[in-house]
Order: sequence, then structure tokens, then C-alpha cells
Amino acid sequence: MNAFSYRDGLLHADDVDLATLAREVGTPFYCYSATALEERYLRLAEITAPSGTGIAFAVKANSNLAVIALLGRLGAGADVVSEGELRRALAAGVPADRILFSGVGKSVGELSFAIEQGIHQINVESETEFDRILELADQARTTVRIALRINPDVSAGGHDKISTGRKTDKFGIEADHAIALYQGASEHAYVEPVGLAMHIGSQIQKVAAFEAAFDRIAEIADDVKALGLSVPRLDLGGGLGVAYHDEEQELPLAHYGELLQSLAKRTGAHLMIEPGRWLVAGAGVLVTEVNAIKQAGERRFAIVDAAMNDLIRPTLYDAHHPVWPVREMADVPRHPTTVAGPVCESGDILAVDAPLPDLSAGDLVTIGHAGAYGAVMASGYNGRLLVPEVMVRGDDFAIVRRRPSHDEAMALDSIPDLETKASAA
Ligand code: LLP
Repeated sequence: MNAFSYRDGLLHADDVDLATLAREVGTPFYCYSATALEERYLRLAEITAPSGTGIAFAVKANSNLAVIALLGRLGAGADVVSEGELRRALAAGVPADRILFSGVGKSVGELSFAIEQGIHQINVESETEFDRILELADQARTTVRIALRINPDVSAGGHDKISTGRKTDKFGIEADHAIALYQGASEHAYVEPVGLAMHIGSQIQKVAAFEAAFDRIAEIADDVKALGLSVPRLDLGGGLGVAYHDEEQELPLAHYGELLQSLAKRTGAHLMIEPGRWLVAGAGVLVTEVNAIKQAGERRFAIVDAAMNDLIRPTLYDAHHPVWPVREMADVPRHPTTVAGPVCESGDILAVDAPLPDLSAGDLVTIGHAGAYGAVMASGYNGRLLVPEVMVRGDDFAIVRRRPSHDEAMALDSIPDLETKASAA
């Protein structure tokens, strides 16, 4: 079932029409379908079940508590990259023993908190971090389970800025060095090396990249085992690509599942994956109202009330997101229309030359596939308020993050009296 479809002339999220929702909530807002989230998770769980692979949702893709809680209830763990995400996963009810801590620059405070919580595993990204964890584990006198994140030197990812597994990327540790650290950890009283981890990039549409990376991690696991050490866990990262364009292909999931099965068989390890985008992208849209229509030379603009600060992917990665009018306009002519926001930057564009019918001020449009890396990457640039998030299930909905007031947005600032103090001194 498609979570967002036209019925009675209006685009619906599940059974709620987005025009009614826009009146209730005000625009712009993100809307997630609980049904779609569930459907995605269960589909992936079915593919990973034969290999016994665990799924840890990469919270960075969408860290709304309602989203984490929904996936957690279905059995997902969480992959987190900061204390904030770790606290969110715990607050959403994900048990600590299903939480993985990834990330290239964890602070002492963050590591201490993770150790205190007794999470499933910390993925180590550098020797500095490794030494820090040994020290903290000694101080805490508790066993800390670590995996070494290796750099498999595989080039993958839908965009230069989201490729992470190449030799020159900042992520992971070179294989030989990681193996030496693994051995070092095995001799330590309070640190238990439980496996290897990797993440080669995001928005990967071809299984070949995973195949190469899985081979590489299996080889490295063999090298570790040759030292007489065990490698009970392999964390394979996320990166599963979705179709943002109608004509695009998603990652062939069945084939990916087969790769997991053969890796599990070959290594005997318990496998884990950390998908973010694949679970949530298609389950969310950004709903926005047209503020103005204007022509600039050849280009027709629809200026809407959402902007780059609400959804930065088109500006940052030239990412494509489809635009769907809320009012169904099936048989009317369409013209290339560039959908732009009110932020004072020419790059504040949500879609370039989207095929859209004639729109007028007051019309509602939705930006599709916005459930991943949408709300989480938002900022308050241009004095704009973070937009609300709404979750729909069937004909019911709930505001799962409310719009703050301007007073709330300003409340963290203060005007100091440094000048008065200086002149008094
Ligand atoms: N695990 C690790 C260690 C990661 O760094 C990432 C994503 C994931 C898992 C989840 O990857 P996914 O399954 O979502 O592809 N803001 C960018 C994406 C950045 C991804 C960063 N790391 C975008 O909007 O495309």
C-alpha cells in the first residue's frame, strides 16, 4: 500500500487528507505515516530473518521519539552517534542492550555516558578513541564491548558527501591497524572486542558495493581469527538506497538478503545492519503552502513557505525530491516549476523544474520522500521556527513535535551587560 495517495481529489496520508491536516497544524509541517514505517520495517525484517541479522535503526535519519519508539516496539535496536541520540533512543524505550554507538568523534563525556548505560557495543573509530575507552573502562571497572570500525576502502554512496568507505574518508581504521588494536583489546581486563564494524556510504543502489565490502570484512575477520581471537559480531552499517525518482530502482532487497545469508554462513558471526534512510524516507512528506507565483526570465517559480532550513537535501546534495500538489490536478497541463523557499539565498530551492500544474498562492504542495534526513537536519536560519512533525495512523493523527513559539526560540539567548561591567572596571 502507498501511504500517500489521492482520494476524493486530495492527497491523503493513510486516511487523513493533508488539506485538513494543514488547517489543523498550520504549514509547513512534516507528516509521517505510522503504517508505512511499520510496513517498511517488517519488509526488511523478513529479508534479514533467514541470516539472523539484527536491525539497528540509524537514528540520525529521523530522531523523533515517536518514530524511534514505533520502530523499537517492532524490535529494532538503535544506531546512535551522539549523547543526544543515545538519550533519545533510551527515552523512546529502546533497551540499552540494543543500542550501538557509532561516530567518528565521540567525546569523553559521551563515552562515559554510554559506558554507564551498558549499551550493546561501541564502534571504535580511531586509536585515540580506543585509548580513551580503555582508560574509561578501567575507571568504571565494567566490561565495555567494542567493535573496531574498519575502513574497507570501497567506494559507494549516492553523492560525494555521503560516501564514507574510501581510504581517504575520515571514517574507520585501516585493516592492519584495526587488527592490532583488536589484539590489544583482547588482553585488556575491562574491554571486550566483540567484532568488526563498517559503513561504506549512504543511498547505495547497487548490491555490488555491499558484496565487495562484505567480502572485505570477512577477510579481515579471518585475519583476526588467525590470531586465535574470536569475532562473534559483524556490524555492516546502513546505506540501503531508496528511489527518490519514479524511474529509479531501490536497492534489490532480496539480493541484499542473500548476501547477508552467505556472509553469516561464511563467518559464523551474528550480523547487524544500521539502516536509516531505507526505513523512513518514503514514510514522510513535507507539506507546504504556496506563498507566491512568479516568473523570472524563462523560469517559473512557486515560492512556498518551507525552505532550505526545513529540508536542506536539495541545496546540500542537489538531491531530487518529487513535488505533489495536495489538490489532485490529474488532467491539467503541467509546466516546469521551480519550488523555492523564502530564505534569502538563491540556493534555497526545494525542487528544480518540477512538472506542476498551474498553482496559485494558497495552494498546498508536498515534498515527497522527506522522512529521512529532513526534520533532523533543520535549522532556525533566517529566524525561522523548526517545523512541527505529525504522525498519522489510519484516520487518526498526533502532533509528535509541536511548533515552538518565537519566544521559546529566543529563550536560550540573552543580552549581556558586558559594556556596563567594562566601564565600571
Ligand atoms: N551507520 C553509520 C555509521 C552512518 O554513518 C550512517 C549514515 C548510517 C548508518 C545510516 O545510513 P543510511 O542507511 O541512512 O544510508 N544526510 C545525508 C545522509 C548522511 C548519512 C550519514 N551516515 C542525506 O541526506 O542523504
